[in-house]
Amino acid sequence: MGYRIIGLLGSPLPHGNTAKLLDAALKGASDAGCGVEKIEVANLAFRPCREIFYCREHETCAMKDDMTAIYEKFRELDSLIVATPVMTMGIPGALKSFMDRFQVFFMAKYMRKKSLVPKERRAHRRGLYLGISGMKVANVFDGAKMTMSAFFSIIDVQYWDDLLVPDMDTIQDITTRPDLLESAYKRGYEMGRLLVEGSA
Ligand SMILES: Cc1cc2nc3c(=O)[nH]c(=O)nc-3n(C[C@H](O)[C@H](O)[C@H](O)COP(=O)(O)O)c2cc1C
Repeated sequence: MGYRIIGLLGSPLPHGNTAKLLDAALKGASDAGCGVEKIEVANLAFRPCREIFYCREHETCAMKDDMTAIYEKFRELDSLIVATPVMTMGIPGALKSFMDRFQVFFMAKYMRKKSLVPKERRAHRRGLYLGISGMKVANVFDGAKMTMSAFFSIIDVQYWDDLLVPDMDTIQDITTRPDLLESAYKRGYEMGRLLVEGSA
């Protein structure tokens, strides 16, 4: 069985430091034998949740946009990596709006008590959060981590691990820190290995 790991990029920069960290983790997952796909939130056309609550009774959203196909991918993925910079002590607005649109999954899981995620996948879906911040101050990742935990729960992904890189204002270019890219690679590899060997 082929396993699929999605890497979700919250930074608007396709080749920025966050993207490089994500690419390293996805390379690890791929080397471990998983199929990988990168989704860049900045490239998606969608609007924020409008609280129509069509999802109270339906397994999708009333708003038809790029999120419609995303819901299918997120039902089927085997593990998820979310890579994002801290913005305004939380996550970027576009990524937050993306996550808010998963009210579709929230309603199914918590209100109708019928998760949209197939049972055989729920047991092994792991989540990895790769975080970057400009500053090096206490609690800089707290807001993002709370959001990430909630999102992972809603989509039936276990908060498995994170790699938090503060002080990017000093580091500037993450390629000057191969140790950090290596850490991301190793986590991605381990995430993939657990899936592949878990089914052996
Ligand atoms: C709009 C905006 C808001 C930001 N807010 C914060 C913040 O609250 N705390 C912080 O430590 N860094 C903040 N940063 C800095 C980014 O987290 C940092 O520059 C990061 O390295 C960007 O990663 P990227 O270049 O891969 O997108 C902010 C950056 C931007 C553009």
